[in-house]
Amino acid sequence: MPSRWTDLDRPPLSARALAAGLTGDGALWRDVRVVERTGSTNDDVAAAAREGVPEGLVLVAESQVSGHGRLGRSWVSPPRAGLTFSALLRPGDAVPPSRWSWLPLLAGLALHRAVVRLAAVDAWLKWPNDLLLGADRRKAAGLLLRADAGAAVVGIGLNVSTSPAELPTPAATSLAVEGADCTDRDPLLRGVLRQLGEDYLSWRSVGGDPDASGLRAGYTAVCDTVGRQVRVALPRGGELAGLAVGVDDDGGLLVRDAAGERSVTAGDVVSVR
Ligand code: BTN
Repeated sequence: MPSRWTDLDRPPLSARALAAGLTGDGALWRDVRVVERTGSTNDDVAAAAREGVPEGLVLVAESQVSGHGRLGRSWVSPPRAGLTFSALLRPGDAVPPSRWSWLPLLAGLALHRAVVRLAAVDAWLKWPNDLLLGADRRKAAGLLLRADAGAAVVGIGLNVSTSPAELPTPAATSLAVEGADCTDRDPLLRGVLRQLGEDYLSWRSVGGDPDASGLRAGYTAVCDTVGRQVRVALPRGGELAGLAVGVDDDGGLLVRDAAGERSVTAGDVVSVR
């Protein structure tokens, strides 16, 4: 009997079918491309941004050979086992630069919303935007935002049919491992892009205001980090330990310790139970 993880269970994506459902009059997404293999979709879309490509490009790779993760890590996934894609956004003059820092949280929340709706799994966000699933709250998706040439490149990696043996670490999981209702990448990708487009346009229409758009409230409601005792390894060294109490006006994590409240804008968060 063939394994449930053979390639037969991993059909290719069709750019034409995706574009037919996502692009068109008034849609944010204008150009949806699927490539068999690349180094990093974030690198490719950043290069397109530097060439002046307008907002609305989506590049999906069936296989990435040097995918980037946060904090200098890598993102690894077997071909077609997951979704690895990047989208080009240009908030431009509509959103002051100080509010662009909400974009990774916005994209994480859109990913969360789409996955919960389509795959019917219990999911949370670990600040800033890791998607956690299941009772053990393991990581199924990560997101990397890169600002380049006046554009924002939103890169998302989501483990879909990845088997336990294929997962990079014991702290990782996939939709299939968690028994999700949907492990078909086509509707998942459409769902994520539709939700991202909708949430982005509504946030942009209120100048990126995290409260008028409902972004801060929506994010906080599903954030597994807020309300927990945390330790944050700061990118420039050192550590901050305290209670995560909320998200500040820049999308930073507010951590309260004996000295007061401090905002963390980057770093690796570990929950202390
Ligand atoms: C993380 O959790 O550390 C972020 C992972 C982001 C991975 C995605 S896969 C598509 C896009 N291209 C990249 O090189 N990285 C992002």
